[in-house]
Amino acid sequence: MSASKLLIAALLPLAVAACGEPADTHPGQPVTHRRAAFEKILHAFEPMGVQLRKQQYKAETFLERAKELASVKDGPWEYFGPATNYPPTHATAKVWSEPRQFESERQAFLAATDRLLVAAESRDEKNVAAAYEAVHEQCRSCHKAFKEQ
Ligand code: HEC
Repeated sequence: MSASKLLIAALLPLAVAACGEPADTHPGQPVTHRRAAFEKILHAFEPMGVQLRKQQYKAETFLERAKELASVKDGPWEYFGPATNYPPTHATAKVWSEPRQFESERQAFLAATDRLLVAAESRDEKNVAAAYEAVHEQCRSCHKAFKEQ
């Protein structure tokens, strides 16, 4: 490796740390855990949307994703404890100041994911597309109030 390449390699971690977010140093790292849990939700959810948008609905793989979503949908919520509004969170303060509204958004989301699973089991593309859109609407609706954009 040339000297300049070595220098770049040495500086890279610094650059990443400098534009990165504050580290989650809190006990149990609740912000890190809930974000990772949301990433799992996205990971299950996104491929379903891709299938529908590209008009490549495949009932079996769609059903697998809907089951995956059902198995990860409960992941984030236990990590929204009372003292967990701190950087690097993207949650808004309303999560803690409007707990009843947050809970009703959460319940609506959980119900919509249950309906998506039922629709996926029906293997009827029209049902599936409507149920998918209803879940998507719940992501958006909760994020609008409770996640920084
Ligand atoms: C009941 C509220 C609620 C619902 C429903 C919800 N989210 Fe979120 N989501 C949040 C909050 C709050 C955060 C910010 C968490 C943090 O940073 O502490 C978040 C963060 C995320 C993140 C992490 C990235 C970021 O910008 O912080 C992803 C990805 C995500 N949500 C995807 C989804 C998807 C996909 C759905 C629907 C399938 C969904 N969420 C449904 C509240 C919700």
